Amino acid sequence: MTDRYAVIGNPVAHSQSPRIHAKFAESTGEDIAYGSILAPPDAFVGSVLAFIAQGGKGLNVTVPFKEEAYLLATVRSPRAQSAQAVNTLMFRGPQIHGDNTDGWGLTRDLALNLAFSLKGRRVLLLGAGGAARGVLLPLLEEGPARLVIANRTGAKASQLLVTLPAAYAQTARAVSFEGLAGETFDLVINATSAGLTDALLPLPSGLFSTESLAYDMVYGRETAFMRQARADGAARVSDGLGMLVEQAAESFFLWRGVRPQTASVLAALRFA
Ligand code: ATR
Repeated sequence: MTDRYAVIGNPVAHSQSPRIHAKFAESTGEDIAYGSILAPPDAFVGSVLAFIAQGGKGLNVTVPFKEEAYLLATVRSPRAQSAQAVNTLMFRGPQIHGDNTDGWGLTRDLALNLAFSLKGRRVLLLGAGGAARGVLLPLLEEGPARLVIANRTGAKASQLLVTLPAAYAQTARAVSFEGLAGETFDLVINATSAGLTDALLPLPSGLFSTESLAYDMVYGRETAFMRQARADGAARVSDGLGMLVEQAAESFFLWRGVRPQTASVLAALRFA
């Protein structure tokens, strides 16, 4: 019998996940069906339980339900615990397992698709909301020389640091946007939601060297941050499409125990 999976969110019509998982199923020969579920803002839990009752095996969770999914999970992976958010649910017996593959998706995209090693690098993470929280620890685990978090609301960046294991106290610090003046980074990641509205971030010039990579976690178009980074001399600029495909591959692996190839899927989405 075909196992059923879906992405749940609001909105969800724009989601690329059904396309990505259909390609993974085709390339691995796994017998799955993957749909999408538009949950009303106040009915996430009911929608998940209905899917389970219909025999659903797992869900990807997207905006705005990742925190609710974390609360719903009865078993939480260490990755989910550090992100305080869940993007992958697995239904096994009476348990609802919650994991978070977003951080994996980002570090894997950097290493595999962009050939960027984080080891010993100077990294700037812009934003301190859910998206930043999801990737912070996975980034640190790759061994950057230092990682600076800058956020419009400085207190939120400082709070993020408090949640980190003590081993990273020397590596990570928080600053305001103004506090970035005079600093240069090898990698600047935009994890703010400013990319969604095309608002311009108040970044000082000189953040990028001629070898720096600028990465926006938003995908599907050139954001204001990406344009800003190009104008300020970043050597390379990337959107978050590769992160999307890599986090999906990790979800697929959690569900099926099979790791799909991602390069051809990423290329197909990129040039569709
Ligand atoms: P997400 O889950 O996408 O991270 P969020 O938790 O609401 O969403 O966090 C949004 C992030 O984008 C925050 O870091 C927010 O900054 P504040 O903490 O100061 O609110 C940041 N952000 C959103 N719009 C922004 C803008 N126009 N300029 C600067 N930062 C912005």
